[in-house]
Amino acid sequence: MTATANISATKGTNAPSHTLFVCKTCATTWQDGKRVGESGGQKLLKQLQNLSQDWHLKNYFPIQEVECMSACSHSCVVAFAGSGKLTYLFGDLPIDNSASAILECASQYYAKPDGLLPWSERPEPLKKGILARIPSLPQ
Ligand code: FES
Repeated sequence: MTATANISATKGTNAPSHTLFVCKTCATTWQDGKRVGESGGQKLLKQLQNLSQDWHLKNYFPIQEVECMSACSHSCVVAFAGSGKLTYLFGDLPIDNSASAILECASQYYAKPDGLLPWSERPEPLKKGILARIPSLPQ
């Protein structure tokens, strides 16, 4: 009885269960072992952060910057993760003109109970850049 009450209480909160990970190191220019200027990943991250201010899911699908997702030869790289859902890793995303497509695809992901994103439904920049589709953990 107590466990049921706790589960209901948890479901009643607005705690985000989704995350959009964005690699901020992708497309970095290096010179003598040091970063030069703003990386492509940082530019994409800024665009996503700005665009998400008006996104209806901004409080439910937070954007989290990460240093690297080990897909460095496929910059720029983002990932969608959600409780009980497939996790997607997307690469080869253009620095410019992909932010709105990423948020559109994230909205599709949010709406699906299992997170499945069929090729034909995904926005153009995210149709061919899937690097991984990882099964969800058992619930
Ligand atoms: S630098 Fe972006 S995935 Fe490694």
